[in-house]
Amino acid sequence: MTIPVITVGQTSAEFVDQLERLHGPVTIVRRCSELAELIAASQTGIARAAIIADVASELNSDLVERMNLAEVAVVALSAEEPERKRLQAIGTRSAAVGVAPEDLAELVVEAVNDLAADRVEGRSTRVSNLSDPGMSLAPIQYDADDVAEEHERSGQIIGVWGPTGAPGRTTLAVNIAAELAARGERTILLDADTYGASVATALGLLDESAGLAQACRLADQGLLDASALNRVSNQVAIGGGQLSVLTGITRADRWPELRTTALADVLDLCSSTADYTVIDCGFALEADEELSFDTQAPRRNGATLRCLEMANIVYAVGAADAIGVPRMVRSLAELEMAVPTASARVVFNKVRASSVGRSPRRQLKEAWDRYGPGTDIQSFLPADPAAADAALIAGSSLLESAPESPLRSAIAKLVDSPTDHRSRTPGGPPRRKVKFSRGSVRLLAGLR
Ligand SMILES: Nc1ncnc2c1ncn2[C@@H]1O[C@H](COP(=O)(O)OP(=O)(O)OP(=O)(O)O)[C@@H](O)[C@H]1O
Ligand SMILES: [Mg+2]
Repeated sequence: MTIPVITVGQTSAEFVDQLERLHGPVTIVRRCSELAELIAASQTGIARAAIIADVASELNSDLVERMNLAEVAVVALSAEEPERKRLQAIGTRSAAVGVAPEDLAELVVEAVNDLAADRVEGRSTRVSNLSDPGMSLAPIQYDADDVAEEHERSGQIIGVWGPTGAPGRTTLAVNIAAELAARGERTILLDADTYGASVATALGLLDESAGLAQACRLADQGLLDASALNRVSNQVAIGGGQLSVLTGITRADRWPELRTTALADVLDLCSSTADYTVIDCGFALEADEELSFDTQAPRRNGATLRCLEMANIVYAVGAADAIGVPRMVRSLAELEMAVPTASARVVFNKVRASSVGRSPRRQLKEAWDRYGPGTDIQSFLPADPAAADAALIAGSSLLESAPESPLRSAIAKLVDSPTDHRSRTPGGPPRRKVKFSRGSVRLLAGLR
């Protein structure tokens, strides 16, 4: 069976004739006059590969991903060596203009086989069924072990997430990153919260440049490498160590700048250059675009989903009060649905007797054992307004502005805690008959 191919570019006229004369493994099914026409044609299912000549400079990773999602592999031709490198970095097979027709046909076959293998094995981090709408039409099997294995070779990615209501995601992300950097670990902190980016403010960076959006733009163009990443990062000195920071978007309506394909490339690069990549994630997970017929449209929460998919460790932070606890129970169920590969470690923040009752930890634990989803609470972070405010006013980490504070100690302990964490018995903990104290009854009221 021959591979149906679509083409674009003036130059294509010559090689199309030569390819057809081969009577080999490829058949040209459409010659397009411009790139937009070729992209549209690739969505119709008529082709398994596209050969792009002349207009290859208009390609970016987002367009390549669109075609890949439609199961069309991309081969791009360019006369310039640096441009061919760029084309490879954004996910195409590339060759020089004037390549022999036999070699071009061979390249098409390889590109098609590679794309098929990536999809079957779920190997690619650039294309996944969780945060990319097109893949929801052709779901792949996503194996958690494969994901873990993929990251064993590189640094750890730590996602800090939690439900709406300002439970302390940014505080935790910034301070986990600060603790790691101060210990001499190469650490990058990313602000991927597309609703309310605030890492720059928390660290006192007068930064309007949205480093993460810049990194995504470079990745989209295939121009992101370690030195470019360095250029768009802010360097913050912390406790003798150094923290690289990629600041977030300055307005929520800039969210389309954090496209999932580019973000995956940024995360890949971060995890291959740093020991730890810590991400401050947005809260929302719902895939509202599933309701839309435009399955290729960017997703409002795609950035959050992609970060959570790629994270080796996910901390789920909830507020320790009667609103925060039920919210956390529901959100973890949503997380399980949206990103089944993420096994979250539960952290309750702002733990205090005034919101829960005497012995707040015990009360929270009681409520959680009864109604929680079956994972242990990994950490209780105390309410510590003095330390939290001091850090915000100073625009620095707790380690620097309130090193002896209870909140800093609890976060440092969390960073030290062993990384292995599994959920308990499937289906949740045994429903023990416990006599609830009044405080835990209050905590559960929101679940009814
Ligand atoms: N343990 C704590 N004790 C007291 N105040 C805290 C604590 N943790 C965080 N805060 C404060 O709570 C507020 C919200 O924290 P933070 O910005 O980290 O939450 P968030 O979940 O990132 O919120 P957002 O939804 O805005 O992203 C901040 O003023 C922060 O200083
Ligand atoms: Mg935040």
